[in-house]
Amino acid sequence: MSVISIHSNVRDYTVYFQDDCSFINKFERFSQRLFVIDENVWQLHGKGCLASIPKENLMLFTVTEERKGLKSVMEIYDRLMEKSAKKNMTLISIGGGILQDVTGFVASTLYRGLNWIFVPTTLLAQSDSCIGSKTSLNYKRFKNILGTFYPPAEVHIQTTFLRTLSENDFLSGLGEVVKLHIMGGRESTDSLILSLPAVLCREPDALLLAISTSLSIKLNYIEGDEYDTGRRNLLNFGHCFGHALETVSNYAIPHGQAVVVGMIFANLAALKRKWISYTTFDSHLNSLLLKSLSIPIHEKYLKWDKILDCMRHDKKRVGNGLVMIMMRENFSFEKVVDFSEDELRSGIEELKGVLNV
Ligand SMILES: NC(=O)c1ccc[n+]([C@@H]2O[C@H](COP(=O)([O-])OP(=O)(O)OC[C@H]3O[C@@H](n4cnc5c(N)ncnc54)[C@H](O)[C@@H]3O)[C@@H](O)[C@H]2O)c1
Ligand SMILES: [Zn+2]
Repeated sequence: MSVISIHSNVRDYTVYFQDDCSFINKFERFSQRLFVIDENVWQLHGKGCLASIPKENLMLFTVTEERKGLKSVMEIYDRLMEKSAKKNMTLISIGGGILQDVTGFVASTLYRGLNWIFVPTTLLAQSDSCIGSKTSLNYKRFKNILGTFYPPAEVHIQTTFLRTLSENDFLSGLGEVVKLHIMGGRESTDSLILSLPAVLCREPDALLLAISTSLSIKLNYIEGDEYDTGRRNLLNFGHCFGHALETVSNYAIPHGQAVVVGMIFANLAALKRKWISYTTFDSHLNSLLLKSLSIPIHEKYLKWDKILDCMRHDKKRVGNGLVMIMMRENFSFEKVVDFSEDELRSGIEELKGVLNV
């Protein structure tokens, strides 16, 4: 079993890459414990990997983006208080990014911090969200605007869970994996280009390597900037345009797929500003980005006025220009704050050509 140790201002914590499911039994060492488990995960793995979990310590949680709010947080507080939770209670969360966000918020606020363990079960949660300390809730129609910084004490990664993930959810996570490998530099990008077919087939060794590489690269960006005031911002590569596309499509385009399109857009812009060569643009596009995009992007979502409107509301925007994170030929990343409306308009036209729409 390999591990990654992470330093955080809240507490240092460890990611364990588990070879089998026996780690679940070891949670018995916590005499006061509540498992909060994504209902879908329980349906699929309750008789398998999770079979040893005692029913009296179990709370099932139905995961939807609408439920990522304070009401769900209060439901979990209620359940914990019914169990007379004290500061010595351990909360063990098993599920994807939504369950992580809701239970992480609970863990960080009840008694100002419970012992919290997270077992991520989606590709997105295993390769990206499980580290970095953010907990986020939606408030009314505003996404991720409430939150805290609170890392789990332990993260346990077991790729067996990924076998049952729907294709859409798998591809959503893949977008972040691709983003992190590109952000890691030439070597990690080239290695993902080679292993992509095996990753797409969910071959366990290829997944494990892609996940551990993604986390190591993310760690490099968050170390020293846990509170996201500088370098960590760069992890929004592909997200400036991607978020807008996701919103315009009314979430018909899964997050990770929107991020892939966002990276294609950012690279088109970088090519135009001569930040990257045509060779680099072409190799990322054809060997990695288009191969990771498996849903058609309808032209009706690529309306520049609607995308502009969303990008103007980007929470990271401070000045008059639009925000765009772009790469340079040496794989360094920069946040551009003067991206113009003209660049957006012409970029979208070029994007349509690249995507064949
Ligand atoms: N806190 C952070 O740092 C951070 C970072 C990125 C994203 N997020 C948040 O994460 C959320 C998205 O997370 P996600 O992509 O993991 O989605 P998710 O948690 O919504 O899970 C996606 C779907 O997969 C199901 N599922 C989970 N594990 C499964 C498994 N092993 N097999 C079959 N089905 C399974 C879930 O029930 C759900 O229907 C968003 O709300 C996003 O804002 C948080
Ligand atoms: Zn993302």
